[in-house]
Amino acid sequence: MKALELNNVRFKYRDFQNWALDSVSLEVEKGEFVTILGCNGSGKSTLCLLTNGLIPHAIQGNLQGSVSVFGNNVGEQPVSQSATKVGIVFQEPESQLFCMSVEEEVAFGPENLAVPREEIKTRVEWALELVGMKGYNNRSPFSLSGGQKQRVAIAAALSMRPEMLVLDEPAYALDPVGRLGLYSVLRDLKEKHGMTVILAERDAEEALAFSDRFVLMKDGKLLESGPPRQVLRDPAKLREIGVAPPQVTEVASLLNTRMGTSKFSFLTVEEAERAILEEVLKPKKEGRR
Ligand SMILES: Nc1ncnc2c1ncn2[C@@H]1O[C@H](COP(=O)(O)OP(=O)(O)OP(=O)(O)O)[C@@H](O)[C@H]1O
Ligand SMILES: [Mg+2]
Repeated sequence: MKALELNNVRFKYRDFQNWALDSVSLEVEKGEFVTILGCNGSGKSTLCLLTNGLIPHAIQGNLQGSVSVFGNNVGEQPVSQSATKVGIVFQEPESQLFCMSVEEEVAFGPENLAVPREEIKTRVEWALELVGMKGYNNRSPFSLSGGQKQRVAIAAALSMRPEMLVLDEPAYALDPVGRLGLYSVLRDLKEKHGMTVILAERDAEEALAFSDRFVLMKDGKLLESGPPRQVLRDPAKLREIGVAPPQVTEVASLLNTRMGTSKFSFLTVEEAERAILEEVLKPKKEGRR
């Protein structure tokens, strides 16, 4: 069974002319970390809203094709049921927090599902620890930094014990330190907890190190899907669709052009350093001798 299965999905918001998503087919395996890359208006948020049924149940329009989450068609079950499988975190930390304390915030979802008190307590502690916010139980969410708020929003999603987490540009409003903290939480979710994660981003840089797959979107269409190395190999193509290529991939591309080859492909600075030392600088030295 797939974690997520979109089958030829088209969606048009009510009273609008254009297809926000157009003929999108996508399968996500359990435990996979998939990053959706695309510029403004490419359809990332629309795709996220489909995963737990907010589209078509809360946001209306014309939906064609089918969306299944862990084998269930989200169009045919209430959002409350999809929400037990899929946790969603949005772009703006403020818009998702409304309780008086961090603990109430994280307990809110399971309380609504009438989960027993003791179990809720365990879940709250587990989720806060996972996002690095242990001990913040009694703080007001409004007294937290943007990055801390987003981590509480993730904890609130996790306390529902979802099988999949969907994050729509979660680092959008954060400063560099907040971003680092947030991405290290995402990395832990994948590496230590094997969570299925879908992350929507406009920039490939941060998710590069821990994404199993990148999916490129433009104008509601899915352009390409594959391992990061394959999807990011052509920085010019990424720029063309409005996505900033990671700098290391630019270095690889420049070296390939300069040396008349296509063998360079880097995902990390370490990879770039090793290849430059071994394949660019060393042969030169040897040649001189
Ligand atoms: N509530 C809405 N009503 C009508 N049209 C919408 C609505 N939300 C999005 N759209 C349209 O759907 C298309 C896809 O938008 P979407 O928000 O999914 O893109 P995105 O990739 O998330 O963009 P961004 O990077 O700006 O968040 C765009 O053409 C947009 O104008
Ligand atoms: Mg969006």
